[in-house]
Amino acid sequence: MATEPLMICSENGAIGLEAGLRVLRAGGRALDALEAAALPVELNRQDRTVGIGGVPNLLKQVQLDAGIMDGATLSVGAVAALEGYLEPVRVARKVLELLPHSLLVGPGAARFAQEHGFEQAEHLTAEAEAQWRARLQERGVWPVDEDHLTECCRRALREERWGGTVNFIALDRAGDLAACVSTSGIGWKYPGRVGDSPQAGAGFYADNRCGAACCTGRGELAIQGGTALRTVIHLEQGLAPLEAGTRAMQFLRRVRDGWGGGMNLLVLDRTGRHAGFSSVTGRKYAYQSISMDEYAMEERTCVEIGQEETQERYPF
Ligand code: GLY
Repeated sequence: MATEPLMICSENGAIGLEAGLRVLRAGGRALDALEAAALPVELNRQDRTVGIGGVPNLLKQVQLDAGIMDGATLSVGAVAALEGYLEPVRVARKVLELLPHSLLVGPGAARFAQEHGFEQAEHLTAEAEAQWRARLQERGVWPVDEDHLTECCRRALREERWGGTVNFIALDRAGDLAACVSTSGIGWKYPGRVGDSPQAGAGFYADNRCGAACCTGRGELAIQGGTALRTVIHLEQGLAPLEAGTRAMQFLRRVRDGWGGGMNLLVLDRTGRHAGFSSVTGRKYAYQSISMDEYAMEERTCVEIGQEETQERYPF
């Protein structure tokens, strides 16, 4: 029996599920469902970690990262450090469709968005700017010394909780899987810092043969652990989503860069089984299939990853 089309997402993505489900109910593609679902989150000014309203980097620039992957073809499109354009997931999808490339960064990504008629917008909101300034003042790095951004970054991001970012995974009627991530990254980041979200294998991965996975949390951990691809490889090896995700999270115990941070992971296999994980307790994710009138929230399994902030490698 064919699996019912469905989507899963991080908690902050729930506001986009209905738009995505409309696409799936009409028999549309998983990739199109992801684009539709991501947009309301990217336009949500209250979300300080995605699109408009994101907390800026040390130079008060909102730099966006997004990635999307087609599990049928393993094609990837992604943009990193994109400034001034709405709909980063849609821009990433265009990269996937039109270019012989997977990832565009900074001015190149903006140029591509402009070439394809994407709408421009100011992403910095007054609320995000206030939050940005308050942290810098509290950490004694206000005003920002542009000649010493490394020190400003180290001070601003000590004991950071590393939350936010949105994940969506969709399974459509044809059995195709797709995954996407969108984020403004960590606020107060060093200009040009790129996290896991636009990096296939780190922040997202999808393969129709077995399943898909996406991450939120401290992107550097997912990069160092290859977390999304590692999870999908475990699915390919025959593990159920609960076991595959647990192993990929446990692998992060090997990362010892001294900067701490947490990780959250979502997994959907090709038969529609799903699971969510977090390195802290009490986190949830949302899911909805086409026969459900509204989304449901599910508790994430807590897997401790042992990331204490020690600064051993980088003492102050
Ligand atoms: N996981 C999003 C980021 O680290 O930028």
